[in-house]
Amino acid sequence: MECCGSPSLELTEAVQQEIDHWVAKYPEGKRASAVMGALTAAQTFQGNGSLTPDLISAVANYLKIPPISALEVATFYSMYALKPVGKHHICICTNVPCKLKGSNHIVRHLKEKLGIGFGEVTPDGQFSLKEVECMGACVHAPMFQVGEDYHENLTLEKVDHILETLKKSGEHDGQ
Ligand code: FES
Repeated sequence: MECCGSPSLELTEAVQQEIDHWVAKYPEGKRASAVMGALTAAQTFQGNGSLTPDLISAVANYLKIPPISALEVATFYSMYALKPVGKHHICICTNVPCKLKGSNHIVRHLKEKLGIGFGEVTPDGQFSLKEVECMGACVHAPMFQVGEDYHENLTLEKVDHILETLKKSGEHDGQ
């Protein structure tokens, strides 16, 4: 990803308010500490689920930190998407505990059902797939995350049910 985006992009009021909320949690003069919450707010409320270089720069400007500092965080943590994702962004863990519990079968099933690979979005924009590291739910492996929801103890049947439910939620939204 190029560094850094245009400094002219304005953050929406909703994003600014959410960042202020995070900044208030830290001592005076420590705005940089709010960078993770700030990037999450920008991704969720302005980026349609992902971050562009311009958006990352806008967050950095708002926090009064160098754009490269925000970019380092955005490129390090897996919860930030640096290219467009689907309405339902499925992040599946393939670390050892999940793999021992069959995550490779879940991955194969998801790829077949959705017709996409890691880093891709379905043509209708509904689903995208990402391989991630341990998300701290090993005791209920295998698992994946969609939005803010963890889905654990996955089986192929459970995956089918989750996908159907997510598809229906899209239909209810008129999509
Ligand atoms: S290894 Fe998958 S959640 Fe920990």
